[in-house]
Amino acid sequence: MSIIAPSLLSADFTQLQKDCEMLNKSEADWYHLDVMDGKFVPNISFGPMIVQQICSLTKKYCDVHLMIEEPEKYVEAFKNAGAHNITVHLEACKHLHRNIQQIKALGIHVGVAVNPHTPVETLSDIINDIDLVCLMSVNPGFGGQAFIPNTLSKIRQLRQLIQTKNSEAKIEIDGGVTLENAAEILKAGADVLVAGNTVFKSANPLQTISELKHIS
Ligand code: DX5
Ligand code: ZN
Repeated sequence: MSIIAPSLLSADFTQLQKDCEMLNKSEADWYHLDVMDGKFVPNISFGPMIVQQICSLTKKYCDVHLMIEEPEKYVEAFKNAGAHNITVHLEACKHLHRNIQQIKALGIHVGVAVNPHTPVETLSDIINDIDLVCLMSVNPGFGGQAFIPNTLSKIRQLRQLIQTKNSEAKIEIDGGVTLENAAEILKAGADVLVAGNTVFKSANPLQTISELKHIS
């Protein structure tokens, strides 16, 4: 069964506690927390202080997606804030292998995210060192964008790479996931579905999460 990770970026920040209580009651597996610095991506979201407050409202797994430059300066703060996984962008890391080892040394899971233009083969030499690949299915920076169809073939290529290398990394799809396209994304080989707008802009988020969870 797939892992459902609602993205709090689309939550109502004036009612964060209410949205967290909804997620806690829901069939969502993870919280997906999008950190943006206004440099790596053209938007600014929130930092460790808000991540800590969100993590304190849940017992669920907190998946922190860092869309920031120089992530090595901040990973410890996000670990202390309650992150169970920290994902860094391949395109933001000059020394990706070192960044991965730094996160692993904190005793939490580590993910690597790749933008839509980055070929899956670039993950080949680190795929055995990581717990998660976050395949961006939109250009990072904003919620509510349309799914880029080429992601489907990237999922299949990545699934093949993971099998060939005997890696245990999960495949997470981030951006533009809907009730309509979730089935083909899972069929292509994804393990984790991130969903922002689909969950938080729906009339009944609890039911939408349940529907996503039961798509196979
Ligand atoms: C985009 C973020 C995503 C985003 C997903 O930069 O990484 O997690 O919030 O939002 P939707 O599901 O609305 O595309
Ligand atoms: Zn994200």
